[in-house]
Amino acid sequence: MIIKPMIRNNICVNAHPKGARFYVNRLVDYVRSQKRIEGPANVLVIGSSAGYGLSTRATAAFASGANSLGVAFEKPASAKRPATPGWYMTEELERLARADGLYAESLIGDAFSHETKQNAIAKIRENMGSVDLVIYSLASGVRVDPDTGEMFRSALKPIGEPYTSYTLDPFKEEIREVSVEPATQEEIDATVKVMGGEDWALWIQALLDAGVLSEGATTLAYSYIGSDFTRPIYRDGTIGQAKEHLEGTAGELSSRLATIGGSARVSVNKAVVTRASAVIPVVPLYMTILFRVMKEKGLHEGTIEQMYRLFSERLYAGGKVPVDEEGRIRLDDWELRDAVQGQVRAGWDSVSEENLAEIADLEEYRSEFLHMHGFGFDEIDYDEDVDL
Ligand SMILES: NC(=O)c1ccc[n+]([C@@H]2O[C@H](COP(=O)([O-])OP(=O)(O)OC[C@H]3O[C@@H](n4cnc5c(N)ncnc54)[C@H](O)[C@@H]3O)[C@@H](O)[C@H]2O)c1
Repeated sequence: MIIKPMIRNNICVNAHPKGARFYVNRLVDYVRSQKRIEGPANVLVIGSSAGYGLSTRATAAFASGANSLGVAFEKPASAKRPATPGWYMTEELERLARADGLYAESLIGDAFSHETKQNAIAKIRENMGSVDLVIYSLASGVRVDPDTGEMFRSALKPIGEPYTSYTLDPFKEEIREVSVEPATQEEIDATVKVMGGEDWALWIQALLDAGVLSEGATTLAYSYIGSDFTRPIYRDGTIGQAKEHLEGTAGELSSRLATIGGSARVSVNKAVVTRASAVIPVVPLYMTILFRVMKEKGLHEGTIEQMYRLFSERLYAGGKVPVDEEGRIRLDDWELRDAVQGQVRAGWDSVSEENLAEIADLEEYRSEFLHMHGFGFDEIDYDEDVDL
């Protein structure tokens, strides 16, 4: 089969196996080109197949030589369709890790279920004994409550009043006005249920009860704050409520983990192109302008650079982990610098479809978007027939 990208509304519905494997090799090459980090020995990554979770796993394995168990929701190939990108990426990451003599395995299933948690515990016991780092990097639109079976759907909406702004189709190079109606209380609650800290707490409690967390274990969940441009739809919107719940959960989990000398933290990461962020209104336009500014200033980072910096300059830098006044690790520090945001503001205020290519870095966005589905690499022959 010849596989070309199929993109609709900022969603790519297919993946290229060779390109997806190549993507992982690039992540791993980056980590290998950096200094070794005295980091974790055994890691559990929940949401391990894409975006920040995949890059965290790559950093743990190839900068610190950590064994890892991943949990992700991906689909294998069928006779007619390639697998989802994270399926190939997981396979490749594990192949590379095993070649280095590391334990690397994944559970493909619903992280929100009790069953997956128990399966993960069994795998940890059998293969690592215990884990000293647990990463919670899920991004999902739906969650089935494991006790009641009720399904919750998250919403990306403002709260209180409608929100009108601009969004970008980076492939059609079209800027469109978007208006989003405010969320109902039910939608706010459902978003907190899906993307808040409830499931993270269930994971940590299950691991703690099973005795598979090492003495002094750390758990980390990822959050985003963002700037004025995205605030009404992000931080002040439904997803922001979920992130506040997640951040509150860190405090609660830290108390529970005190019994083993452990801690729970949130790391606030920068805006990057992932499958999750591409579908948030306004965010693609903000990101393309941000990338141009951050590149000009030599500050541009993708998921792998962020996660390497998380390990090398925050979590495993030696000494106390630097945090903000609310106890959060901040990797969005470069994104939120006044000089960066000031220049993004100037770009935002003057951008139009006519000057888009000068003000926004469409190329960076498009190539990252394509790459994370295994497309757009010069090194891959996309006219070659692929055996699924
Ligand atoms: N993308 C950004 O700009 C950004 C910025 C800051 C923080 N974050 C946060 O980072 C975290 C990860 O987001 P991302 O952008 O890397 O997302 P992503 O879409 O790239 O990855 C999400 C991961 O979650 C897994 N997943 C989803 N539903 C699942 C389920 N039911 N069971 C098991 N696995 C499931 C997917 O398989 C994938 O591995 C989120 O909390 C997000 O809010 C993202």
